[in-house]
Amino acid sequence: MKLTKEQLEEFEKEGYLFFPSLFSKEEINRVRDAVADLYAEDRPEIFREKDGVTPRTGFASHTYSEMFARLGRHPRMVTPVEQILGEDVYMHQYKVNGKKAFDGDVWQWHQDFGTWHRDDGMPEPRAMNIAVFLDEVNEFNGPLYIIPESHREGVVEAGHDLSTTSYPLWTLDNNKVKELVDQGGIVAPKGPPGSMLVFHGCLVHGSPPNMTPWDRVIVYLSLCAVSNHITKFNRPEYIAHRDFTPVQKLSDDCLLNDDVSGLPWPTEKTAS
Ligand code: SIN
Ligand code: MN
Repeated sequence: MKLTKEQLEEFEKEGYLFFPSLFSKEEINRVRDAVADLYAEDRPEIFREKDGVTPRTGFASHTYSEMFARLGRHPRMVTPVEQILGEDVYMHQYKVNGKKAFDGDVWQWHQDFGTWHRDDGMPEPRAMNIAVFLDEVNEFNGPLYIIPESHREGVVEAGHDLSTTSYPLWTLDNNKVKELVDQGGIVAPKGPPGSMLVFHGCLVHGSPPNMTPWDRVIVYLSLCAVSNHITKFNRPEYIAHRDFTPVQKLSDDCLLNDDVSGLPWPTEKTAS
């Protein structure tokens, strides 16, 4: 999938691009079917909500689940980011966010690159998220809120919030959020399972709790330009990966075709 000149310009201006129904129902159902097994795992990669039970996010799922590995190597996800960054990319982080029916908690306003820079020593904002919806995302079930154009601010001041949710985050204060929203407004991309969203590492975003009976699972690949790899190793490897080798893409039909070798993840070579 190649982005057009207009799409590249839109990304630069707004900080995100949205592709409703990019993956077919058949493709996404295969990934969705792997979610229950993933969250049933008792391992440190699976963070629970404050109740200690409800899955909040599953890190590094591509390293132990074949179906999530296929998604992480899917050309429809990886190629647009390679194109925007202009070089090979490696997987900095991989997460499957549950936002479970009734119990999925808030994600406070933040920038991902703020964390990657402060905690992981990522030099430049030459990394971004590419997300795919495994469930329908609607206005009720905790959609992602993004502030268009906020990526142009670069890294903004943030405080380390260790208490609001079960997962520590560098979050923005309300005055800064108001200032950015006054300029750019808020959008909440909504769409059927299989919709894809790519957004700049400095784009400010968050999401409200899910008080509906509908789950809202979204998978996020955080892809970083290989030349921009992290320099600090404070967080566990399953949160900030140390394998800086380029993602090896599979064929476009890799979610449906079971004749795929090298799963879950083909390389363990760690750069210095
Ligand atoms: C995130 O920003 O890392 C997660 C937000 C969400 O899944 O709602
Ligand atoms: Mn984020």
